Amino acid sequence: MKLPKAESYKIKMVEAIRLSTMDERVTWIKKANYNLFNLKSDHVFIDLLTDSGTGAMSDKQWSEMMLGDESYAGASSYYKLKNAIQDITGFEYFLPTHQGRAAENVLFSTLIKKGDIIPGNSHFDTTKAHIEHRKSYAVDCTINEAFDTEVNHPFKGNIDIVKLEKVLTENPVEKIPLIIVTITCNSSGGQPVSMQNMKKVSKVAKKYGIPVYYDSARFAENAYFIKKREKGYSDKSIREIVKEMFSYADGMTMSSKKDAIVNMGGFLGLRQKEIFDRASVFNILYEGFNTYGGMSGRDMNALAQGLYEGTEFSYLETRINQVAFLGQMLKDKGIPVQFPFGGHAIFVDAKKFLPHLPKEEFVAQTLAVELYIEGGVRAVEIGSIMADRDPDSGLNRYPDLELMRLAIPRRTYTNDHMKYIAAAIINVFERRDKITKGLKIVKEAPILRHFTVELDRA
Ligand code: F0G
Repeated sequence: MKLPKAESYKIKMVEAIRLSTMDERVTWIKKANYNLFNLKSDHVFIDLLTDSGTGAMSDKQWSEMMLGDESYAGASSYYKLKNAIQDITGFEYFLPTHQGRAAENVLFSTLIKKGDIIPGNSHFDTTKAHIEHRKSYAVDCTINEAFDTEVNHPFKGNIDIVKLEKVLTENPVEKIPLIIVTITCNSSGGQPVSMQNMKKVSKVAKKYGIPVYYDSARFAENAYFIKKREKGYSDKSIREIVKEMFSYADGMTMSSKKDAIVNMGGFLGLRQKEIFDRASVFNILYEGFNTYGGMSGRDMNALAQGLYEGTEFSYLETRINQVAFLGQMLKDKGIPVQFPFGGHAIFVDAKKFLPHLPKEEFVAQTLAVELYIEGGVRAVEIGSIMADRDPDSGLNRYPDLELMRLAIPRRTYTNDHMKYIAAAIINVFERRDKITKGLKIVKEAPILRHFTVELDRA
């Protein structure tokens, strides 16, 4: 008999979770103004709100926590992390930050001016918000295939080179301070970018003299997909692939809370001393002195260790197979999901799940509320609430993809949890015709409104 795949780790510590009743959940979600961010975590049975900072650290990472050097300047933990970043990504310079958006804040403060244009592949919400907050514009150049959840394409995170060149030729070069490639592309469904595409983006960018930065939160998952799907990479190690990926970039922003499997942390990786020097000023201003930034010594130690663990093939295979296990159970029941499955999450196509609801009633959010009521599973909307209003017109933006994301924390849940999640979604699917009303906004913030929005039944 062929031996089945099994997890590449065993469990040493557990945390109890409690299943509530449906009546309790109906009350709690109403009290939370139908915003899943407002729920108390003990009112959630399986938490798929995010894979960010929610993973389980290893015994080796916890051991590293005890070895942290908390010196204000020149801590050994800083050098440990610097060496790990250089070893894994190849970037010579780095600045520690407290999380990914802080790295964006420091980098964008250094590079972006009012009125600038930043092309990329479906910029993540915080990235876009940091761009728009500076009165500049994020232009989405993702390939069209990404916007049809049924089209099978191995690299739905790719940049459309024709769209990119159009932006570069139609605007003055000095208005385009950088190109951002998000690996994997979260907003289009955790979809990878191919090595060939990274090479092409780099070539075009060089032609125009524009630097390329990677939003690298899930770079290791991206490398896994390259190994599995791209010709010429099956025999290369994840770390070799990672090195090659970053060789086509001038720098990276990193939310370490994802592929580096820590609960908090981020950094900026840079190739040029001149940019490092300029960015350091903002890092000291916003985050902290350069040898700790927004992080404690123990956290830098755990992150250095996490970078190695997160780029191990056996770990990545376990992780991505678990996500696919959930995706396949849903797909087998005819539930519309972004295909191929993403690296960190399964994205349910809410417009296809609830086709009878008007887009003005926030379809993906409605679905996420129903899933919570059904089984205590907390998902997140990646759709028109998260898309915010257009900063110029003030009108709601309705993105092509209206998704409910089921983000799977790393090394946290078992496949029995996946079966439970699938069953809850299937139950909602079976009663979808009875969901006749969506939601309306009662109160919202001017930017990143999904975190605090208050909703009511439409
Ligand atoms: N870039 C990407 C692609 C992300 O997915 C995130 C965060 C960030 C940047 C910002 O990093 O949270 O450390 O400040 N994504 C989380 C998510 C929040 O749920 O997908 P951060």
